[in-house]
Amino acid sequence: MNILLLGSGGREHALAWKLAQSRLCTKLFAAPGNPGIADHAELAALDAADHAAVLAFCEAQRIGLVVIGPEAPLVDGLADSLRSAGLAVFGPSRFAAQLEGSKAFTKELCERHAIPTAAFARVAAEAEALAALDRFSIPVVIKADGLAAGKGVTVAMTRAEADAAVRDIFSGRFGEAGAEAVIEEFLEGEEVSFFAITDGHTVVPFGSAQDHKRVGDGDSGPNTGGMGAYSPARVLTPLLEGEALERIVLPTVRGMAQEGMPYSGVLYAGLMLTPQGVKLIEYNCRFGDPECQVLMLRLEDDLAEIMLATAENRLAALPVPRLSPDPALTVVIAAEGYPGTPLKGGAITGIAAAEALGAKVFQAGTACEGEALIACGGRVLNVTARGATVSEAQVLAYRAVDAIRYPGGFCRRDIGWREVARERAEPAGR
Ligand code: AMP
Ligand code: GLY
Repeated sequence: MNILLLGSGGREHALAWKLAQSRLCTKLFAAPGNPGIADHAELAALDAADHAAVLAFCEAQRIGLVVIGPEAPLVDGLADSLRSAGLAVFGPSRFAAQLEGSKAFTKELCERHAIPTAAFARVAAEAEALAALDRFSIPVVIKADGLAAGKGVTVAMTRAEADAAVRDIFSGRFGEAGAEAVIEEFLEGEEVSFFAITDGHTVVPFGSAQDHKRVGDGDSGPNTGGMGAYSPARVLTPLLEGEALERIVLPTVRGMAQEGMPYSGVLYAGLMLTPQGVKLIEYNCRFGDPECQVLMLRLEDDLAEIMLATAENRLAALPVPRLSPDPALTVVIAAEGYPGTPLKGGAITGIAAAEALGAKVFQAGTACEGEALIACGGRVLNVTARGATVSEAQVLAYRAVDAIRYPGGFCRRDIGWREVARERAEPAGR
């Protein structure tokens, strides 16, 4: 079977690496891809926003499965366009992708199906938002409704900050994404990501992870798309994972099906472990980046087989996907300036040396310039390793990081710190 993978980041490099190993995969194409993905796939210059062009490519190359990596084409309905032409697609429909595409949609779905989440108010104008703020205590969370490239959320520590965030959203800074907003109760606790794969009916757990959103060590500085991750997140104990499945993910999947928009693909739940139980912070309709990189390093089954079964509504017939009990950890090397304007063009060497040390280096924002590999994005490389413990995976990953020469780059030096501290306190626990 020929497979087409859409996307160009570190997440897609990890997916490409795994798809290319599938016994089902005859030939893998990726669009637009990146130099790392090109090691596993033939790259095609396709624009995911041009549905007719993607469809024509699929027909010409006899594509048997399309995997859509990022959220934007999903929210834009690419899966619908391809499915209506009879193609097998891994990724939710436009309606189902609202779980990520509209925060208000998700909050109201939670309300209809009694799914535990932060109390909220949906607001469509500045005055309405400012009035609604009176009903919340501080800290309070303000979110632009739509996709805002991870920049639409403010956790306001003062009322003045909350007012400023509201004005910012309704100033039009986020375009369509800021036409509406959600104001939310602040949830206290530790955050964890939980992944499930579903064909709309059958739901299988697909592992947990913990991301590191702040740019600096000790969780300091501005938010980013993620500076590193590890999996599994042991803080999501089997008991809590069961609670997340029973009270959050299953009612969501059932609710979406009942309401005529069955969700098919990977459902990424951002959870808060609060003293009152597990609560949903948000859903994403795709794999996390860089969480996908650690999940792929742990996945012991055939990814294309799982994705095709999902696309063809026969997930129930497959064994539950197996992830290695050995943890994986990934360190993001970003370009100086990220998450602001990243420095472009620095030369990167040493990837082979890093991999010779046992790590896997996924490429995110890279490009070829003649023979040289250069940086061309905010997050540039994801240095990923597996070990018997998170502490061991961390040591291996940083040893590989230190083998890479990329003078314009930087990384956090403390990825996995929460779990490393837990392992120190409780060395036998695994
Ligand atoms: P989101 O884009 O919804 O994931 O929000 C970005 C980040 O803001 C999350 O990863 C949390 O760290 C934080 N956040 C969002 N909603 C809440 C909430 N209700 N309470 C506490 N923190 C939140
Ligand atoms: N790493 C966070 C995300 O993919 O949304």
